[in-house]
Amino acid sequence: MTKYKPQLIVALDVDTLYEAKGLIDVLGRDVEIFKVGSQLFTACGPVVVRHLLKAGKKVFLDLKYHDIPNTVANAVRAAVNLKEGSQGIFMCTLHTAGGREMLKRASEAATEAALAAKVKRPLLLGITALTSDEKKDSIGQFVLKKALLAKECGLDGVVASSQEAALVRKHLGRDFMIVTPGIRPAGAEADDQKRITTPSEAQAQGSDFLVVGRPIVKAEDPREAARHILKEMGR
Ligand code: C5P
Repeated sequence: MTKYKPQLIVALDVDTLYEAKGLIDVLGRDVEIFKVGSQLFTACGPVVVRHLLKAGKKVFLDLKYHDIPNTVANAVRAAVNLKEGSQGIFMCTLHTAGGREMLKRASEAATEAALAAKVKRPLLLGITALTSDEKKDSIGQFVLKKALLAKECGLDGVVASSQEAALVRKHLGRDFMIVTPGIRPAGAEADDQKRITTPSEAQAQGSDFLVVGRPIVKAEDPREAARHILKEMGR
């Protein structure tokens, strides 16, 4: 169980700035954190990040960096420099599969760039296994190993399914952040996600942030869908 109530993150997995702005308007009263992933960022770039920051929202930049250490460190620097006034991005992702040097260099780059840009260092989150991967018997140990590596390299947390969240929480302590996608309210479609969980299960397993995309973004009434999930989260 987490000490704090987890927060909802809505994944803005849409194709255009127009659609993203519409969702931000509709959900803005209830949702504080929005995730910009490769689909939207490839389509419209930093403008959507700045739009969110201007609207006073927290931005999770989910570009899952995985490249040589120098390139990832520079990408993280560029991400930290995406700011509006003194407000920078809230969190971003990189693949733990990139290895120790890549993760360490990224972590150092984030600290340096945040200091230079006079913004708060964003939370760096390591991708462990994708929630669309089939469940393998050893996945728990695999995720735990990746989480330990992430912590050693100065990352702030990991992205992990709720099935692994309890294990990560047990071994890495209260301050290590766990972000869980693959959240589906009871009865909702799994889509391509293999290791799904309900908002209340994820909360019970120790996740700090629950990422929800299609169940809200594709809903007939996204505001109602978000409120339903927030209610289940006790918010
Ligand atoms: O639509 P759905 O709720 O499945 O969206 C989940 C979001 O979380 C997507 O934007 C996806 O890229 C992201 N994500 C994930 N699994 C991870 C990391 C991120 O599904 N391990």
